[in-house]
Amino acid sequence: MTYEFDAVIVGGGGAGLYAALEASQTAKTAVVSKLYPMRSHTGAAQGGIGAALGNVDRDRPEWHAFDTVKGGDYLVDQEAARILSDDAVRAVYDLENRGLPFSRTPEGRIDQRRFGGHTSNFGEQAVKRSCYAADRTGHMILQTLYQQCIKNDVQFYDEFQVVDVIMNGRTVGGVVAFELKTGEIHTFKAKAVLFATGGFGRMFRITSNAHANTGDGPAILARAGIPMEDMEFYQFHPTGIRGMGILITEGVRGEGGILRNKDGERFMERYAPTLLDLAPRDMVSRAIMTEVLEGRGIRGDGKIDDFVYLDATHLGRETVEAKIPDIQDFCKTYLAIDPATAAMPVQPTAHYAMGGIPTDTHGRVVDGTGAYNGLYAAGECACVSVHGANRLGTNSLVDLIVFGRRAGQHIAEFVKGSDAPSVSPDADGAARKRIDRIREARNGDGGNPADIYSRMQSTMMENVGVYRDDDRMAVAVSDVQALREEFSFIKPQDTGTDFNAEILGLLELENLLDLSLLTAASAKNRTESRGAHSRRDYPERNDDEWLKHTLARLTNSGEVEIEYKDVDISIWEPKPRTY
Ligand code: FUM
Repeated sequence: MTYEFDAVIVGGGGAGLYAALEASQTAKTAVVSKLYPMRSHTGAAQGGIGAALGNVDRDRPEWHAFDTVKGGDYLVDQEAARILSDDAVRAVYDLENRGLPFSRTPEGRIDQRRFGGHTSNFGEQAVKRSCYAADRTGHMILQTLYQQCIKNDVQFYDEFQVVDVIMNGRTVGGVVAFELKTGEIHTFKAKAVLFATGGFGRMFRITSNAHANTGDGPAILARAGIPMEDMEFYQFHPTGIRGMGILITEGVRGEGGILRNKDGERFMERYAPTLLDLAPRDMVSRAIMTEVLEGRGIRGDGKIDDFVYLDATHLGRETVEAKIPDIQDFCKTYLAIDPATAAMPVQPTAHYAMGGIPTDTHGRVVDGTGAYNGLYAAGECACVSVHGANRLGTNSLVDLIVFGRRAGQHIAEFVKGSDAPSVSPDADGAARKRIDRIREARNGDGGNPADIYSRMQSTMMENVGVYRDDDRMAVAVSDVQALREEFSFIKPQDTGTDFNAEILGLLELENLLDLSLLTAASAKNRTESRGAHSRRDYPERNDDEWLKHTLARLTNSGEVEIEYKDVDISIWEPKPRTY
């Protein structure tokens, strides 16, 4: 079938829904999503939205912007960070007005709590900046925005996997999608298309990301020839449930939780004497890994899957039940412990992509020659770049509400002055070929997708993890190249059309393989340590040579070509980071 819209939003998480809501002010708008929107990964965001409301501690957006730049190890584009922190305040009040049930102070204001790396007065002391709804902030964003979209007549196409983007040169014409229920291919023509498909943490073995987080948007655009920005910067959240990676919110430490090694020592005192457990995530994850590798993990065996404890027992049952009720539930379900009485076993978990589809501050996709017409991206799949080399906690929700909203507002104006796209009758040809290639495989009978998936996750976890070096990253690049080759021989077992989840899984695996290659190659290329990219063979940050963004392009022959882009350092001069 062919549908015609002014705006098509790919992805039904927070960024997609906010963009759809704003675009629908003028545009006939559709959300095309592989999930029901309420199941989007935004729902897993627990701890809050950083915004300098100043409801609990004195605060200013400028301090938020500075923390964001410093937290990102000065690879952040500074004007974008200024927009992020200014607009965060507007977006939070907009969400409040639209019905988001924030937790409240006794006076009835939006309550705020501490999160890592957020300070007052340019680093003086920790500040309460995170606006939250218990530990269900992401869920509340989804509920609020979805209801508003329904009210505004946004059309939803759920369980439709987008497989291709239609481009006429540098102008977008729509997308092509695979309907899970029927196996049919549909064309959505649109004047504007926004990708808001979330992250790609499933490329790692231990991850907080949902199974659906397979980088579909970035992979589609990478195959369309658009370079991906700063893919080497992948964040490991310090506190995933040991062995499973399920997120234990930083909000636990925001409420006063403490990390302890096998001797019960509060080891963060040695790594970040001022901010302690609430230092930025890259530093806390490295501190945990150092404790583990030096034999002070709970098992003390120095192996990378050892762990430490997150202790919230001193907070008291009342605080645990009021402030982190979902964490209490997760711990009871997955660990058979109650965090009010027992410490939680945690280890770093692959959590967030700082890099992705390059955009400007209106969400327009850009490359070296400027913005593409009508093509947008927002949320985790995009790189504005406001996170630089390391994102601060809460800034993911800030990013998706600020830039989802801004992109939607831009689309609402853009479609008013644009004609309907001209789309050729065989615009779905490439997508059909891609699916046929997957259905039929090259030689018909080789390769086990589960095995390829698991080997990809292992090589990425072991070789492109918290600590990196040239030899290991070279192994990851060659492993992933070999896995991409093996992938072309896979033959699906399910030959049916209805609810063929195997085809969907293969489309997702192909996306992850392409993005793993871009990530490993970009990481190997950057010979310095900065933020989440921490190399044992190049342990120092090197501003003389590396204060620049990576742009990595996937070629048709499966190679990665790398160019660079300047960082906007127009407000604060880069300085060494201490906390
Ligand atoms: O720890 C958390 O609640 C995660 C928040 C975030 O990634 O910003």
